[in-house]
Amino acid sequence: MRARILSFDSDPGDADSPREGSVVYHQDGALWWANGRIQAVGDYTELAPRLPADISIIDQRDKLVMPGFIDSHVHYVQLEIMASYGRQLLDWLNEYTFPEECRFAQFAHAEKMADVFLDELMRVGTTTAQVFCSSHPNSVDAFFTAAQRRGLCMLAGKVLMDRHAPDSLTDDTIGGIRDSERLISDWHGTDRLGYSVTPRFAPTSTRAQLDAAGGLLRNDPSLWLQTHLSENLGELDWVAELFPDSRDYLEVYEQSGLVGPRSTFAHGIHLDDGMRQRLAERGANIAFCPSSNLFLGSGLFDRRAARDTGLNLTLASDIGAGTDLSGLATLKAGYQVGQLRGQPLTAWAGFHALTLGNAQSLSLDDRIGRLAHGMEADFVVIDLFASPLLARRMSRCQTLAEELFTLMMLGDDRAIYETWAGGRLQHRRSA
Ligand code: GUN
Ligand code: FE
Repeated sequence: MRARILSFDSDPGDADSPREGSVVYHQDGALWWANGRIQAVGDYTELAPRLPADISIIDQRDKLVMPGFIDSHVHYVQLEIMASYGRQLLDWLNEYTFPEECRFAQFAHAEKMADVFLDELMRVGTTTAQVFCSSHPNSVDAFFTAAQRRGLCMLAGKVLMDRHAPDSLTDDTIGGIRDSERLISDWHGTDRLGYSVTPRFAPTSTRAQLDAAGGLLRNDPSLWLQTHLSENLGELDWVAELFPDSRDYLEVYEQSGLVGPRSTFAHGIHLDDGMRQRLAERGANIAFCPSSNLFLGSGLFDRRAARDTGLNLTLASDIGAGTDLSGLATLKAGYQVGQLRGQPLTAWAGFHALTLGNAQSLSLDDRIGRLAHGMEADFVVIDLFASPLLARRMSRCQTLAEELFTLMMLGDDRAIYETWAGGRLQHRRSA
C-alpha cells in the first residue's frame, strides 16, 4: 500500500514536540505485508524497487495509515446499555448492568452480540481489545469464536463474581475458577487469542475467589488479569468495609497475588502516591477510561501523577459506561479531562497511547502496536477529509501535529476509511 504512514518507535513524552526518534513518519510511504505480517515499511521511492514484481500496489496516497487502535478495557456485554441515564457506579451496576448481563446466559444472544460488537470495533478502527465477557462461560466461547473467525488479536475472560450480584450471575466460588480453567485450556494462546482472568472487582468476589484467581496466574504467568480499582468513592467505602484487613483497595488485590506486569486495573482515579508506586514497581497498568469517568461522574484521572511515578498507563473506552467505542472519541474525552486538570493531552501522546503505548502496557508489543518488519499486519487507513467540517478544518492545518490534533478532536467513525487485521480487510467505509 502506498500512503502517508505514521507509527511510533517509543514514547514521545508529554511535551508539545515529540521526543527525538519517537515518531516514524513517511509522507510518501509504502507498507508491504504478506501472510498476516508486515514485510517492510519505508519511503515509497526507496522501497518500491525492492518489492516483488507480482504484488499489487493499493494507492492511497491521500490517506494516513496508522497501527490498528487498541482498547485496553471494554465490556462487550454492555453494548446495549450505553447511555443509561442518571446513576453513578454502584446504582448503575444494579439497575442497568447486572440485568443486562443476565441476558448472556443464552448462547444465541452472546453469539449475536459478539458479532455486533466486533463489527463496531472494526468500524472505529480498533483491531485489539481486552474484553470483559459476562459470568457465563458461554459468553466467552461466543466471543472468542467470533474473534477467531475474523483472525483478530483479542484478550478476554469470564467475569468472576461469587457474591453481591443477582443469582443468575453469581458463581460458585471454586466453580467459577474451574470454568476459567476450561476456557484457558480451550482458548489461551490459540491463534491470536489470549485469556485474561477477570474478577469483576473486589466487592463481588470473596477472598477465597480472589485467592483462587491469583492461583491461576501463579500457575501460568502468560495469562493476563483485568479488574476494576478505585473508580468511585462509594465503592471505596464498601471495599474498606468488606476487607477490613487490607490497608487500602490495592492491597486487597496484592494479598491475593493479582498485581503483576500483565494486570490491567481500570480507572484508578482515587489513588495516593504510595499506591501508584506499588503498581509501578509491579509493572501493572491503569486503564484511563475518560468518557466513562465523565459519564458516571467518577472523577478526573490524574494522568500526570501516574506518569511521574512511572506507572504504565493504557487508554480505554470502558463501554457500556463509556459513551463511545471509538479510540478517537476516547482521545477527545482524554483531552477534555486533561484540560480540567491543567494537563492537556497532546496528539502525539494520544496516538502513541492508542497504539504502541497500549501494546507495551499490555505486553503485546512483540506482536502489535507498530508498523515495522515482522509485526502482525493490523492497521487503519484514515481519511482526514472524511466529512465536510473535518475537511474544512483539516485544510487549514500546516503541520502533522495540527492534523493529528484535529483528527482526535473532530474525527469520528467516518474518518476510518479501512480497517485491516491479520493482513485481511475487515472493514471499508461505505460510500
Ligand atoms: N466496576 C465493577 N464493574 C464495573 C463495570 O461493569 N463497569 C465499570 N465502569 N466499573 C465497574
Ligand atoms: Fe469497566
